Amino acid sequence: MVCLGNICRSPLAEGILSNKCKSLAVDVDSAGTAAYHIGKAPDPRSQNIASINRIEIKNQKARALKQSDLIEFDTIYVMDQSNYENTLKLAVNDAQRGKVKMILNASKPGSNKDVPDPYYGGDDGFKQVFDLLNEACEIIKNQLELELNGTR
Ligand code: 4NP
Repeated sequence: MVCLGNICRSPLAEGILSNKCKSLAVDVDSAGTAAYHIGKAPDPRSQNIASINRIEIKNQKARALKQSDLIEFDTIYVMDQSNYENTLKLAVNDAQRGKVKMILNASKPGSNKDVPDPYYGGDDGFKQVFDLLNEACEIIKNQLELELNGTR
């Protein structure tokens, strides 16, 4: 899960998908394309909307996306077009480029919609981000279940 700062959107995406995939052998992680906030916990507004939904993200620590992530992970979900372009800059071949997906295309195929950056807004923006990510992650979880178990 990749956003810009790895303190608002991608920590929520990591928390939501990890929570849905507890019974599956998947490794969910998150990172940012920018290095401004390395080592910080998620934004308190992200922690708050997560905990309202009984998801704990406060122990996450922001880190920067690195080239090896494109080797290690099967899919890189990005939150917006700018993250998409910056992530592609780290890719060195078509196999890696093919791993990078706009996360909302899971729930709205082909739409290339952004998860809006909530950083400079209020709590409403974080609720909207949560709802968008929850909808997308439910579909991603179902896809993973089919891939891993061949059943839902
Ligand atoms: P995120 O949000 O990419 O969802 O973590 C942001 C966090 C920090 C900044 C911008 C967006 N910033 O400008 O510091």
